Amino acid sequence: MNLFARGSDPVGRTDSPIRITVDGEAVPGIAGQTVAGVLLASGRLSWRTTRSGAPRGVFCGIGSCFDCVVTVNGVPDVRACRRRAVDGDEVRTQTRQEDA
Ligand code: FES
Repeated sequence: MNLFARGSDPVGRTDSPIRITVDGEAVPGIAGQTVAGVLLASGRLSWRTTRSGAPRGVFCGIGSCFDCVVTVNGVPDVRACRRRAVDGDEVRTQTRQEDA
């Protein structure tokens, strides 16, 4: 299924839709997006918390700060801004809170 019917997209995109899960919730994306891109496009601005409980999401967007880490398919500490989303990926948000 395309997000846009052929010929109906105003700028002629032919995007290939994908679907990942985030903490068990199905989230649509487009092939080529990073995991962070899919998360941001779904309206999520943060998906991790620090030990103090402060929210974190994308900060640098280029793989330098590690603020955006998530668990992807069971692999922890994956930088969401650097990992291309793949159809069927299972993403889990992470927390560093000591009581979590
Ligand atoms: S936002 Fe900085 S490493 Fe991903």
